[in-house]
Amino acid sequence: MSHLLYIQASPRGNRSSSSEVAESFIDAFKAASSDNHVTTLNVWEMNLPEFDGERLNAKYSFLHGQNPSDAETIAWQEIVDIAEQFKDADCYLFSVPMWNFSIPYKLKHFIDVITQPGLTFGVSPETGFFGLITGKPVTAIYSRGGEYSNPEAKGMDFQKVYLEMALGFIGFREINSILIEPTLADPDTVNSAITAAKQQAKVLGANS
Ligand SMILES: Cc1cc2nc3c(=O)[nH]c(=O)nc-3n(C[C@H](O)[C@H](O)[C@H](O)COP(=O)(O)O)c2cc1C
Repeated sequence: MSHLLYIQASPRGNRSSSSEVAESFIDAFKAASSDNHVTTLNVWEMNLPEFDGERLNAKYSFLHGQNPSDAETIAWQEIVDIAEQFKDADCYLFSVPMWNFSIPYKLKHFIDVITQPGLTFGVSPETGFFGLITGKPVTAIYSRGGEYSNPEAKGMDFQKVYLEMALGFIGFREINSILIEPTLADPDTVNSAITAAKQQAKVLGANS
């Protein structure tokens, strides 16, 4: 039995190419075992807490090895609940549109909420930062209107490079990626990009 947590970052519903490819992954994952199950979190439908005030103060208290105040502890609990829900999975799937060369701001907000000392990463005086989510595979599906695989455009891709760094920071090592590009091209090009991505998604979903 395996629990897949699916983080969906497109607000485009059934018009979303990244969500469409994610469905192929999920179908293959479910078909692999009747015990496999999926929790879906669409970051656009989550009521994510603002990360300011006492929540932010609490983060600095933990980073400085200090005990949080009562007000910080209360504010922090909402962060703990979301981070614990995130950690409570065996494998992960992200579907991520490129927005202005990076990720949608709601997904960044989600990452800001879950990336916390003592919850998803630790700090050691000897070795520095270390991730706490270990031994779990993650697949990220990236859709983008343009093409970023060629050397001239590669430096403009802060979508894949950022998400991989953020996931690596909290401990992920087995990070699979599926690219769907260019989604703003002619229909034939888009269809073949989606078909190829779905093939990869089926293989990865069946083996997660
Ligand atoms: C706000 C916004 C910003 C975008 N910025 C970029 C961009 O910087 N580069 C790019 O190639 N495509 C960009 N696009 C196009 C999307 O990446 C593309 O349509 C993608 O396939 C959307 O994925 P989805 O259908 O899963 O939502 C942008 C789209 C939106 C809505």
